[in-house]
Amino acid sequence: MALIDLVLLKARLGKLAGRFDVDALESCDSTSSELMRRAESGAPAGTVVVADRQEAGRGRRGRSWLSTPGDSLTFSVLWRFPGPLARLGGLSLAVGVALARALESLGATAIGLKWPNDVLLVLPDGQAKLAGVLVELVSDRRGCQAVIGIGLNLRRPPEALPQPVAGLDQAGLTGVDRHDLLAAILRELAGVLDVFASDGFAALRSAWQAHHVWQEKPVQVLGEGDAPLPGNCLGADDDGALLLATAAGIQRIYSGDVSLRPVEAGTWGGA
Ligand code: BTN
Repeated sequence: MALIDLVLLKARLGKLAGRFDVDALESCDSTSSELMRRAESGAPAGTVVVADRQEAGRGRRGRSWLSTPGDSLTFSVLWRFPGPLARLGGLSLAVGVALARALESLGATAIGLKWPNDVLLVLPDGQAKLAGVLVELVSDRRGCQAVIGIGLNLRRPPEALPQPVAGLDQAGLTGVDRHDLLAAILRELAGVLDVFASDGFAALRSAWQAHHVWQEKPVQVLGEGDAPLPGNCLGADDDGALLLATAAGIQRIYSGDVSLRPVEAGTWGGA
């Protein structure tokens, strides 16, 4: 039997239960791949697939997403948006705002966001990744739909990973009930996605920037195969692009990985 009990989840969702159609699986390849297949067969907006175990969990930029059954919450949500795909820039940032609000509503502290899709725990000596968001878009004649995949560590994964990772227990949420957690996230997601659908990321930008860990900090952006681009991070624009003040002026970054840049004597220090 799957770890999520749909009766318990429904009770916690209260009035919002009608907006979501949740299926809880013990195992699948990837909740996002499963939901994508269901979307292609006509699954309605608000369909959610949550799985205890993913055999082929996917991360951003072709990476894999490893999660430990019992120690993580992995799920995907299908949502429809009016208008063209171009209006959906900033959706993964908006989802980050919903995640930060949900975790804080349960009492978590020191939650930060990193462009474009990471939820972090801010520690005295750096940051560690708590959750990742993978947004995949499909458009058809009815408009566009997004499969929003979320992977959240309840406890720190034991395996060594390329970047520091943390669990919710380190954010003050030891032993959080996964039904409370999923219900809080779906509640905040519904609110944020409604705002995003009507007013775009612009309406959520200041909330995102309030959590942005590298706001006004020296960073470097690593794109595919490019040399790192140094600059000072100015936040995100209304479309969700990262604003980077570089030696050549302000640049809009649409994809890449951002990391903090050690400021060395004699290198350009930013605008
Ligand atoms: C990232 O940080 O690279 C994004 C990770 C997203 C992982 C989640 S887990 C649930 C959903 N199913 C997947 O295969 N991926 C997303």
